[in-house]
Amino acid sequence: MSEIRVKPVKCLRGELTLPGDKSISHRTIMLASLARGKTSVSGISKGEDILKTAHAFQSMGIEIQGLGSDSLTIQGKGLRGLSQPRDIVDCGNSGTTMRLLSGILAAQNFSSTLTGDESLRKRPMDRIVEPLEKMGARIKGKFAPLKIEGKRLKAVSYRIPIPSAQVKSCILLAGLYAQGKTEVTELARSRDHTERMLKYLEADIEVRDLTVSITGEKELIAKPINIPGDISSASFFVIGAIFLPGSHIRLSGVGLNPTRMGIIDILKEMGAEIEIENLREANNEPRGDVVARGSRLKGITIGGEMIPRVIDELPLLALAATKAEGETIIKDAQELRVKETDRIRALSINLSRMGVEVEEREDGLIIQGSCQLKGAKVDSFGDHRMAMALVMAGLIARGKTVVSDTDCIKTSFPEFEAILKRLKVV
Ligand code: S3P
Repeated sequence: MSEIRVKPVKCLRGELTLPGDKSISHRTIMLASLARGKTSVSGISKGEDILKTAHAFQSMGIEIQGLGSDSLTIQGKGLRGLSQPRDIVDCGNSGTTMRLLSGILAAQNFSSTLTGDESLRKRPMDRIVEPLEKMGARIKGKFAPLKIEGKRLKAVSYRIPIPSAQVKSCILLAGLYAQGKTEVTELARSRDHTERMLKYLEADIEVRDLTVSITGEKELIAKPINIPGDISSASFFVIGAIFLPGSHIRLSGVGLNPTRMGIIDILKEMGAEIEIENLREANNEPRGDVVARGSRLKGITIGGEMIPRVIDELPLLALAATKAEGETIIKDAQELRVKETDRIRALSINLSRMGVEVEEREDGLIIQGSCQLKGAKVDSFGDHRMAMALVMAGLIARGKTVVSDTDCIKTSFPEFEAILKRLKVV
């Protein structure tokens, strides 16, 4: 099993453009495959999760050229153009692949089976099975493998009991095929990349407050898609720069969708010096340059409607809390327990090993700040975001840190180590 050894650095400096947003990359492959016509894609993520989505569509007869590079051509075949996959579809580590794809497969005129790695097979799928069954789908399994028998779906109105963009997107994709208007209402606004891309590709979709409605059976129109840099990937370096006095980094063309910007808003509230420049929009997704410098932070409470806007960055905010003055409380974040690993448990274990005073709660963590981290042997538990957050922790710790089980980083951000090397000043 691979590990990363980390030594403290002086600061981070430099300018660069990050690889494409993972969430938008998944949706690009899916919607371009279902659209009529050829889509040129630029800036797509090269993470393994994205390759899983691409392979799934290739196995259903979609021609995708350029896989492995950051520009693709996808020959969409229309809503009814998929053919039965040649084999069981392997979603690897990717919850987004499994949950979004299930919505599409539930409406096909063929059967299919989806599976994944050990982590994905432990993650709850009843959250998508229940609404899809209400729409008339036939699905066997509450955990992967899922056996999906395609059916003619009917439109429903569904209130999602947990904050989840994956569940919302799954229902909207099923709604593309249902007769009539499908309505999804969420508790708090989660990332809206699916809605934005569907609108861009001319689906019949409308957003009102926390309800999204889509009228089914309308074909999507293929259009070029440029994917902005991944704000979740950017966040590792932004945090690193903030921690280390003398740092100054500029990350260009980062996705700045308001439903994903929680990390910037919270860090600013904690006192971080972050600036957004050149804010612009392309393909219905905002983007801009993020500039960050070494700053002093203070502890805060993070919870409620903010949580879905920052769900993937909470491990980094837990790390930020260790350096902030005073106490930081993270609450209402029980969803962290069903991510690639139980991130509340993993943070509590690893931060304790590094000398942090941390209390684990069912729905979050309480972290005491102003802590000088100690280098330690820490464990990603096979979770890419945990692995990368721990590498950043190692940069500011006293002594050497060894992060074990780091192969998982390539599921979302294979370029992580190379980019960090470019920014590091030792
Ligand atoms: C994602 C939604 C979030 C997020 C995940 C990607 C998406 O999951 O944690 O990394 O692309 O829709 P949930 O919808 O389960 O919160």
